Amino acid sequence: MSTLASLLRCNEVVQGLTIMSSLKTSASFVMTSVTVWFIVLLLCPGQLGAQLGTTPNIKHIVLGRCYNYITLVNPAFRYDCDAIWNQFEEAVVRQSSCNVTVQDYHHMFKAMPQTWPCDRFLFWSKTRTLMHSYAAVVRHFWTLEDTLVGYMFNDLIWCGQEGNSGFDFSSCPEWSTCRNHPVYSLWRQASQNFAEMACGNITVLLNGSIVNAFNRKSMFGSVELDGLNPLRVDYVNIKVVANLDGPFIESCSQGSIVDLIEILQSRGFRWTCTDTDQMLMILQCIQSPLQPSCQTCADSLLHRRSLTFN
Ligand SMILES: *[C@@H]1O[C@H](CO)[C@@H](O)[C@H](O)[C@H]1NC(C)=O
Ligand SMILES: *[C@@H]1O[C@H](CO)[C@@H](O)[C@H](O)[C@H]1NC(C)=O
Ligand SMILES: *[C@@H]1O[C@H](CO)[C@@H](O)[C@H](O)[C@H]1NC(C)=O
Repeated sequence: MSTLASLLRCNEVVQGLTIMSSLKTSASFVMTSVTVWFIVLLLCPGQLGAQLGTTPNIKHIVLGRCYNYITLVNPAFRYDCDAIWNQFEEAVVRQSSCNVTVQDYHHMFKAMPQTWPCDRFLFWSKTRTLMHSYAAVVRHFWTLEDTLVGYMFNDLIWCGQEGNSGFDFSSCPEWSTCRNHPVYSLWRQASQNFAEMACGNITVLLNGSIVNAFNRKSMFGSVELDGLNPLRVDYVNIKVVANLDGPFIESCSQGSIVDLIEILQSRGFRWTCTDTDQMLMILQCIQSPLQPSCQTCADSLLHRRSLTFN
């Protein structure tokens, strides 16, 4: 796990505590939360000692997200949220925090089967922010975060403790320190299911500004790619996107993307690859319109507008 992810976790807890302290006004509670706040701040920067524990209020968050999903996001789906929660809890608690395998989640996944129309699957690696704006604009895209399991568990942390029927809210191990990390095992299985379900044209969004844009150790490289079925997938459409201001490290003809293409070819997939996708560039330019590389784009848009209005 990267330092970034650990810092994100810290922020989550700090946020959680801030919300809690603004809700409760009792003086003693404020005192306690100030103290906890202080401890969190002490622990976060150094990243010494144990990781933060299970996300506070996890049960309310997970159940709330599940009900939100089946009621407002995708009312067509029928799921028993309480049953899913029970299966989840069953898989995690009473286990040592490094001993939850993908098989332990088997019953939970059985309680939430999901399929989706073809041509909509979007995979990504190290392009999370851009992926979100892309998926928001091209509305039909479907990412792991749009599946019920992805929606329910996004950004959460959890682990159990041996011989105890609850979650461990004080600390959870890092992903890298155990083979069967409860969070990793769930995402591994979720990613595999997602990939196995993929059909038609699929899109893969990779980051051209880093070395190993296609990383065999990433979830895409280690799980999803192997789960894709050449008989179900028509085309793997790869889109490599570098930051507007570079560095320009990898492209369709350079670096690890070439390895990805070789793997796809050897497994019988048809593929395309672009490192100059206009829509993605426009989305980046919306975030930073003053980038020199955005000027032509802005000019042509202005030009088009003046043509329309004249
Ligand atoms: C891990 O889980 C398995 C099966 O659930 C159990 O047999 C084993 O004793 C556990 N190991 C540890 C170290 O908790
Ligand atoms: C590529 O990865 C870097 C480092 O993780 C990140 O800062 C950047 O936003 C990513 N670029 C894109 C286009 O997603
Ligand atoms: C699938 O991708 C191929 C290659 O990019 C394209 O020619 C075809 O039109 C796409 N089909 C659909 C249904 O999007």
